[in-house]
Amino acid sequence: MSLSAQFETISQALLKYRDLWSPSPFKSLHPSWVAQYSELQSFLLGLTDEQVEQYSTDINLFAHSVSAVFPVAKDLIELARVSRLPLNNTRPIDLRFFRTGIKQRKWEQIQAFEACIPWAQQELTEWCSGKGYLAQLYGLRHQQKINCVEYDQSICKRGLKHANKFDVNARFHQIDVLKNNTDRLFERPSSFVALHACGQLHLNLLEQVIKHSVKNFALAPCCYHLLPKDFYSPLSTPGKISSLILEKNEMRLALEEHVTGAQAELTKHRKLQHHRLAFDEFCREISNCNRYTPTPTLAQSWAKASTNELMHHLAESKNIKVAPDTDWQPWLNKGKTRYQNYRRYSLPRHLFRRLIELWLVLDRAIALQENGYQVDLGEFCEKSMTPRNLMIIGQKLE
Ligand SMILES: C[S@@+](CC[C@H](N)C(=O)[O-])C[C@H]1O[C@@H](n2cnc3c(N)ncnc32)[C@H](O)[C@@H]1O
Repeated sequence: MSLSAQFETISQALLKYRDLWSPSPFKSLHPSWVAQYSELQSFLLGLTDEQVEQYSTDINLFAHSVSAVFPVAKDLIELARVSRLPLNNTRPIDLRFFRTGIKQRKWEQIQAFEACIPWAQQELTEWCSGKGYLAQLYGLRHQQKINCVEYDQSICKRGLKHANKFDVNARFHQIDVLKNNTDRLFERPSSFVALHACGQLHLNLLEQVIKHSVKNFALAPCCYHLLPKDFYSPLSTPGKISSLILEKNEMRLALEEHVTGAQAELTKHRKLQHHRLAFDEFCREISNCNRYTPTPTLAQSWAKASTNELMHHLAESKNIKVAPDTDWQPWLNKGKTRYQNYRRYSLPRHLFRRLIELWLVLDRAIALQENGYQVDLGEFCEKSMTPRNLMIIGQKLE
């Protein structure tokens, strides 16, 4: 299937099932779709906690199981399938000392990304590079000059120190790519790469790549929602004419996938969500109003606090006076039921996370095609290494 045909099919699916994935079930007692999908609701509410846990981490298993009452689930999984990019035959080099100080997971991502870069005989520039380990690895392997673009001075210094230690011919450009004109970085012939440069940062690069007809380009995007505007402005023609207009919260859904290693973070997050829902139940009762009370996001450090401290903090944030000896247990119980239902009602949304991401990535890929690039789109590593494992490789056609 061509990228445009894939984009169109995904657009149709996202539009058709928008009620299922767009509104967050966190804010309501029951989502608006339950009347239309009553069998799906019964299925979800009948799940055990263990099943919810399993299905939350294994979307294929969930799709298989839910397909009895929601048959399209399997089609959605197929639609979201992306193949692995081919690995290139890279010259083996000794990296034992080079990788010291780089976190394991990041190092694996860097290696996997670099292994998919299909060119070798060219200078390379890494955009929003951090310490530029990716560019340095490429420079070391192919004996090429590299450039790193990064706005944090201390990161640039540390990156340069590392490059010097391994005799990589590197130059760090300390530039804020959102505030400064970056045209001069495109004066020298260079290929460009960006690994996990957030929303507008990689969109700026894409714009510059097209403007300056950069010959070779590779990008693994992330944080699609980090944009100055509330809505996504598509880059490609099919994106621009699509009826699907994504807002920030909807783009954020594409990122709601955790890597298994982050269990401790997840436990903290769950405690805080449970308390927020308990507080919402409390507010519904005292105000006699069946509407969600939004509360500010709680920093993870709040997970150490007691229930009493947490609830008083939430009450203060809403200027609500509560007696110091309030018995929170009934609200915690209600909050627990809400949280259990919330997790069940969230499961159908998981079927759409990758599709939203793919839609956004396809829009970028098609925009490149429209500007004379041959584009390869695929996964550069397993999802367990990073859920943001999609990579676009663009090579300008002569
Ligand atoms: C998510 S990190 C990715 C770093 C590296 N590519 C990696 O995968 O480890 C994004 C990097 O972009 C830099 N950055 C953020 N905003 C920037 C801006 N406006 N201009 C230049 N660099 C920026 C940050 O300092 C950070 O090092």
